[in-house]
Amino acid sequence: MYMDGLATIILAAGKGTRMKSDTAKVLHRIAGTPLLAYPIRAAREAGCSPVIVVIGHQRQQVEEAFQNQGLTFVYQETQLGSGHAVMAAESALQGFSGDVLILCGDVPLIRGRTLRDFVQAHRAARVALSVLSVVVDDPTGYGRIVRTEQGDVSAIVEHRDADQSQRMISEINTGIYCCRATLLFEALHQVGTDNDQGEYYLPDIVRIIGQSGHRVQAVRASDPEEVQGINDRKDLARAERVMRSRITAAHMENGVTMIDPEATYIEDGVGIGPDTVIFPGAVITRGTVIGEACRIQSNCVIEESRIGNRVWLHPCSVIEQSTIADDVQIGPFAHLRPGTVLEERVRIGNFVEVKKSTIGCGSKANHLTYIGDATIGKDVNVGAGTITCNYDGKRKHPTIIADNVFIGSNTALVAPVTIGKHAVIGAGSTITKDVPDNALAVARGKQTNYEHYVRITRRSDP
Ligand code: UD1
Ligand code: CA
Repeated sequence: MYMDGLATIILAAGKGTRMKSDTAKVLHRIAGTPLLAYPIRAAREAGCSPVIVVIGHQRQQVEEAFQNQGLTFVYQETQLGSGHAVMAAESALQGFSGDVLILCGDVPLIRGRTLRDFVQAHRAARVALSVLSVVVDDPTGYGRIVRTEQGDVSAIVEHRDADQSQRMISEINTGIYCCRATLLFEALHQVGTDNDQGEYYLPDIVRIIGQSGHRVQAVRASDPEEVQGINDRKDLARAERVMRSRITAAHMENGVTMIDPEATYIEDGVGIGPDTVIFPGAVITRGTVIGEACRIQSNCVIEESRIGNRVWLHPCSVIEQSTIADDVQIGPFAHLRPGTVLEERVRIGNFVEVKKSTIGCGSKANHLTYIGDATIGKDVNVGAGTITCNYDGKRKHPTIIADNVFIGSNTALVAPVTIGKHAVIGAGSTITKDVPDNALAVARGKQTNYEHYVRITRRSDP
């Protein structure tokens, strides 16, 4: 079926007990993206196809999270060990005679180019099996790479099965392997469960393939950080930090200025144009695209939004699922909720909330305002304290404000209501009826001045 290629099997059936979580381990996120997405991406960068993912624990949730991505899912019904997990992929690779790269779903920091180099080293050495190893300061818990006196790899011994001298070995198994498919499954059929955990250990193929007269090599990874697995929340936080620094570095390489990259939280899958400056404490989530020469000041949170060029976000503004055109200014302390569309040169000031509304070019709402379910035209001035009363307790209603309207401060617009072009609303009005084009609408109690009021009340004073 597949010609001489490179397939990958990614192991993701394990439970992840040490996460102490109701969520499957590979669905925990770093930089906003599930762990499993990263080895899948790295495998694709290394040219792997097909990408087979072995799932078991919470398999439905895992499969749902990764549907329609061209992956082949295979099931490991009961988790009887990493060797048993790879066996689950055997039928999916029926007829495939190329190399198989085996990865772990919980090793997210692995880079595509590291995998590519590893596969190249495997092919260049013409060995039957290559294991990616790494030398670490503390090898506790890992499988040790056992070598012969000539330096050839003869076995991998798990920590719990290792004797005193084997435990001294600081070269460990990263859990990443490359092997010709036919040999791999042949060897796996011979793996037993004679070990401390009574599991089918994948690393046992090293001994089995070696003993059958084939050569096995360990290729040392240069960067131990990359092959770090995630077993608990502390590992997760460490990986988060590494991934985040990679992300900020890539943006800086693209011409983005970060005042303090370590204090800037940009998720995986964000686009930022050159000459944009990002201040500490900004949080920018997956799916956001920011244009050129923007200024994103401290503590702004931007979720899944599109932001044009030269947009200035003043501190502490929250922007959710919104679309913002060029030359807009927002905040400080503004809240744009989902469905907000701001056209060119709009100005949204402090303590202004906008929801599911479109605001036309050059319009302003500078202070203390709520705009919900509204369509606002061009060059409209929304005075301080203006509220669209869009909710009657049961349903939401629209407010339409045409071009060049001037809304005086402290106006309540009781929706549904339409304000015509060039209309002016007197400050403090409660508008319940449509206002025609060019009209002045005033809807407020008339002012009464009681002359001499102060003198009259004073007279009764003792
Ligand atoms: C494994 C290796 C060890 C290596 C270490 C590197 C084995 C026996 N040992 O140990 O040599 O140093 O990784 O991190 O493989 N899995 C399944 N189904 C199973 C069991 C495991 O899919 O039945 C998956 C897990 O989800 C995980 C991977 O296989 O992605 C490794 O299994 P895990 O139990 O984490 O092995 P370690 O003890 O970490
Ligand atoms: Ca592990």
